[in-house]
Amino acid sequence: MRLPLVAGNWKMNKRLAEARALARAVAEGVSKLGGARGRVEVVLGPPYLALPAVAEAASGSGLGIAGQDCSHEKDGAFTGEVSAAMLKDAGATHVILGHSERRELLGETDALVAKKAAASLAGGLLPIVCLGEALPIRQAGRTLERVGRQIRRSILDAFPAPPEGLTVAYEPIWAIGTGVTATPVQAQEVHAFIRSRLGEAYGVDWAAKTRILYGGSVKPDNAAELFAQPDIDGGLIGGASLKSEDFLAIVSAALST
Ligand code: 13P
Repeated sequence: MRLPLVAGNWKMNKRLAEARALARAVAEGVSKLGGARGRVEVVLGPPYLALPAVAEAASGSGLGIAGQDCSHEKDGAFTGEVSAAMLKDAGATHVILGHSERRELLGETDALVAKKAAASLAGGLLPIVCLGEALPIRQAGRTLERVGRQIRRSILDAFPAPPEGLTVAYEPIWAIGTGVTATPVQAQEVHAFIRSRLGEAYGVDWAAKTRILYGGSVKPDNAAELFAQPDIDGGLIGGASLKSEDFLAIVSAALST
């Protein structure tokens, strides 16, 4: 009942011409997958400045376009910030929020992520809210406690009512960019926990239709076994989204599960 979603987070990669070429290659590749539309949703997440070019290159293809962050403010004196409305103007449909790189390197808190999530949904963007634990937390057996806290503070505090169009991404920090993927069993355990917590808050029907993506060293050779898990509804892909062949192979894996 949940359409799989595969989103590429390009992070701070790809100059303008490269971004345009990658978007074209993915758009062409997805159309060649034949019947992908309606069976999988594909989203590209370029850096801000490449957003309009990527949106243009992908226009008519049905691909979604995601910002990698957005301000919780509407407009005003916030130097360097970009609002949800600006992202929409630039062609974005989605926005990735609370990525661990922003949490860990730039000090983003759960409270700020919650404000951004609320502002982006109110501004007409579909938020993809990232959660995930660092290695010492997992080693201490506190993964579900940490992810539970992130759910409460980054999502439940943002949305008193069930947020239509929210996507959650579970990205264990120790699996990001390391080549060490969570095993399907490890990932499934946390995904099931996230769905059950969201179900308690917003109702089981809402939770049953809400997508929870896995992120962290998803590659063409491990995507299928991850996506085959009952509560894994696709992936948020970093490194492997930078090469069209790899990204398209992951999209194919989502199509066949
Ligand atoms: P990698 O796929 O490079 O591990 O990155 C995952 C990620 O951070 C996606 O947001």
